[in-house]
Amino acid sequence: MYRLTGVTKRYTRGKETVEALRGIDLTIEDGDQLVIQGPTGGGKSTLLQMIGGLDRPTEGSVELDGEDLSRISETKLTRLRAEKIGIIFQSFNLIPTLTAQENVETALVPLGVKPAERRERAAEALRSVGLGERLGHAPSELSGGQQQRVAIARALVKKPKVLLADEPTGNLDEGTRDDIMALLEGLWHEYGLTFIMVTHDSSIARRAPRLATIKAGQITLTEQGGGQRYAQQAAGNGQPQQAAAHGGQPYVQQQYGGGQGY
Ligand SMILES: Nc1ncnc2c1ncn2[C@@H]1O[C@H](COP(=O)(O)OP(=O)(O)OP(=O)(O)O)[C@@H](O)[C@H]1O
Ligand SMILES: [Mg+2]
Repeated sequence: MYRLTGVTKRYTRGKETVEALRGIDLTIEDGDQLVIQGPTGGGKSTLLQMIGGLDRPTEGSVELDGEDLSRISETKLTRLRAEKIGIIFQSFNLIPTLTAQENVETALVPLGVKPAERRERAAEALRSVGLGERLGHAPSELSGGQQQRVAIARALVKKPKVLLADEPTGNLDEGTRDDIMALLEGLWHEYGLTFIMVTHDSSIARRAPRLATIKAGQITLTEQGGGQRYAQQAAGNGQPQQAAAHGGQPYVQQQYGGGQGY
């Protein structure tokens, strides 16, 4: 469980100070999904960095399971990130010179997983995102949607507790966006992840069970009930899930093709 208390972040450059976050209080239960939206420059990515332990607040605390990420040592923080937190970005951030499988394996290196097991688990993670046939491809040999699937596999191969996503569909067309969202929804549910996602896409924000709007470093929370999920909508239409139609993504097909939402 996350508990953020009075989280403030100031960036100082020369004489200028930007207050990116101004006293954020927020609790996120295990297994919850939270979508964060708001105007550009409002502080969304900064908040995600605090939650992911990528940077520390100027004031306030970010507790994950009772441990304050703003105060633990750099070594402990690096370890905690490697074990518990998977992150995906708008621009995928894959290493261009590595294959899909090698990119996914990089997440297991800091955990000391042996090479043979790394290869096996990376292949399994890529199969679970529908890329079992693309293990040896370089990022440049994959479509944008496929590259994001590799990044998702890399985030999840270590079986993290938390998945963070900063505009994961920002570089994708609408059809691919829906595929990726259905995949993320399915994985969130399957793994019981705590799933926190920044998006500019209001059609995604509308479906979120819980919505945080960040403006000028301040937060407003809206509970939207169960939300209307991608998969549910697809199943309700009696249409095959787009992910299945596009890429033959087995998990989504199996989970949602039968017309049962959750
Ligand atoms: N490293 C930094 N140094 C100085 N200022 C920063 C830094 N990172 C962010 N800021 C400033 O903090 C504010 C919040 O930035 P942030 O990236 O969190 O916004 P955002 O809501 O993610 O915007 P966008 O929707 O454009 O991604 C902005 O005014 C930005 O210029
Ligand atoms: Mg941002």
